[in-house]
Amino acid sequence: MAKIAIIGYGTVGSGVYDIVKKNGGTLVRSTEGETIDIKHILDIRDFDGHPEKELFTKDFNDILNDNEVTVVAEVMGGLHPAYEFTKALLEAGKSVVTSNKELVATYGTELLEIAREKNVNYMFEASVGGGIPIIRPMHQCLTANNIVTIAGILNGTTNYILNEMISKGKAFEMALKDAQEKGYAERNPAADIEGHDACRKIAILASLASGEAVDYNDIETEGITNVTLDDVKYADEMDSVIKLIGYAKFFENGKIYSTVCPMIVNNSSPLAGVNGVFNAIMVKGDCVGDVMFYGRGAGKLPTASAVVADIVDAVKHRVRSKHFFWEKPEGNIMAGDGEVAFSYFVRTTDSADMVSKVFGKCEFVDDIVPGESAFVTKKLTGTEAKEKLSKLGGAVSSFKILD
Ligand code: HSE
Repeated sequence: MAKIAIIGYGTVGSGVYDIVKKNGGTLVRSTEGETIDIKHILDIRDFDGHPEKELFTKDFNDILNDNEVTVVAEVMGGLHPAYEFTKALLEAGKSVVTSNKELVATYGTELLEIAREKNVNYMFEASVGGGIPIIRPMHQCLTANNIVTIAGILNGTTNYILNEMISKGKAFEMALKDAQEKGYAERNPAADIEGHDACRKIAILASLASGEAVDYNDIETEGITNVTLDDVKYADEMDSVIKLIGYAKFFENGKIYSTVCPMIVNNSSPLAGVNGVFNAIMVKGDCVGDVMFYGRGAGKLPTASAVVADIVDAVKHRVRSKHFFWEKPEGNIMAGDGEVAFSYFVRTTDSADMVSKVFGKCEFVDDIVPGESAFVTKKLTGTEAKEKLSKLGGAVSSFKILD
């Protein structure tokens, strides 16, 4: 019997408990006969009405010092004390599995190194894409490839909000409140709507893909708070939608470019049809071409499903580290989009003549807002785009267009 513990009994932690109780019989098949037994649940709150209230503790040492416990699910979120707890557990020779993307993106290099030294596992399938299998497939099934690009809808809350705005004309605040009530949003919703959550997730994927720690602080990040209903209507006019995209491009010289921003996505892209809380990640490998991963990116049971899969894997590999790993950074992340080319969609109050003078030949879009010129540029590097945009007196907004 494998004894495990859960740290944090919030949305995901209670989902882990429910799945282990509900599907324990099925899990035994995957653990090659070993049952999974939850021995402790750590949370600072009281759960007196819980059917197994005796499992709850407020003292982390009850888990750390229990030699029977070999695998711990850290699903409390946040950096502290999750970092201190995880480090102590790994150093004590226990495997840790987590949904905590902030922790993996910030301290992943160090925690993975400790897990490797101690021959235990630090697993984080639930940290990106909720219930979508993405970490293991990228690490194992795509290992024969050099990854060329990753483009993903990585935040369920913002995808849900944009979708409600587009399809139901719902106000931003109301859509956010719905997402919070459904358990999708972060405790501080700024993490969702300002793009920080998606930024942590693309940093984790880019680190896995490149084998180098990509520091999320180096990723240009813009959320959805400036996206207007007029922008959405223009996108529709171009047979496209606006999505918050986590993007990474890997160059042959080892350089990596990454950004999180609202992008124009043509309806011909499989990403365009990803709605509601669903996430999707398109990975292009140099051998396999495009592969898409799709599923529920947030919520109690989808996220807990990925955590429990890691628990099972950690139970099976208690005496052998699986070496999910990336090396220390070598400074390969590019500082901004200066040398990276995209087409741009631009709205301006300048005349079409002025636009043509600055941008040369470009494709105009029928105006939604009277008095505006709206157009699509040819491919420009970030440096070229900034230089040209600075010549327009009345630039309203501009968006990168996803290839
Ligand atoms: N707030 C996150 C989201 C939760 O909306 O996608 C899952 O990481």
